[in-house]
Amino acid sequence: MKILRSPSELRTYQAKSSASVGFVPTMGALHRGHLTLVERARQENDEVVVSIFVNPLQFDQAADLGNYPRTEESDVTALEAAGVHALFLPTEAQMYGDGGQYTVDEAPFSQALCGADRPGHFKGVLTVVLKLLNLVRPTRLYLGEKDYQQYQLIKGLVEAFFLEIDVIGVPTQREPDGLAMSSRNQRLNPEQRQRAAGLYRLLQSADSDAWVTAELVKLGFIVDYVVTKDGRRFGAVQLGSGNQAIRLIDNVRISA
Ligand code: PAJ
Repeated sequence: MKILRSPSELRTYQAKSSASVGFVPTMGALHRGHLTLVERARQENDEVVVSIFVNPLQFDQAADLGNYPRTEESDVTALEAAGVHALFLPTEAQMYGDGGQYTVDEAPFSQALCGADRPGHFKGVLTVVLKLLNLVRPTRLYLGEKDYQQYQLIKGLVEAFFLEIDVIGVPTQREPDGLAMSSRNQRLNPEQRQRAAGLYRLLQSADSDAWVTAELVKLGFIVDYVVTKDGRRFGAVQLGSGNQAIRLIDNVRISA
């Protein structure tokens, strides 16, 4: 696996290749959810490129950015074992040479659900993803359905800006008790970890969004939202408080 630490190293690498490229953008702290995307990309492309970049523009709270787990060494080992061809590891200065003056935004969907509590979050996501797509120029882009709103918004970005890239959504990978795998799960203490599975369990309920919300509150979650939309139920909750709060999101398909 080639480790490419700058856009110019990435360009030199690409110049030698004319193969189909599957791209998996990440923020690192990799788990089996990420690796499922990598596996799928390997099956469908000649080459797989992964990026790890903890994108400051998509964090609305400095504490959340500061607390984000960084595990570069074990990430490199896992990606190597997964048969990734190239890992792109840019710095903030390289990605935001414009000082973040140029951005891409969407309305109104980015202001709903996760965007309502995190103003500017999806502007940060869409901006960094457009930059990464222009750098990597993949054939196919792999995204997790765990972040379903992000997946939909990036699909929309690719269409709106006429990028010739197939956007592929990969089903959510879960722990045995149903908790969606997430880099943030590492921060849960054992008691919180046990409670966390309640989110997935309750999202699947046949009862109303209001009932699910009330049950989540009973379990000790702070509920940011529970919303049913287009045959899916979306939920976002927090465990813990203040700087230590851990935010979990999930969504399930529900039969009407
Ligand atoms: P990150 O949270 O690292 O996630 C990278 C990709 O892995 C996303 O497409 C996400 O949906 C997917 N993923 C995470 N957990 C998953 C799970 N349990 N099952 C399936 N897929 C899962 O999402 C981001 O990074 C960033 O916003 C990014 C797109 C890289 C832009 O900065």
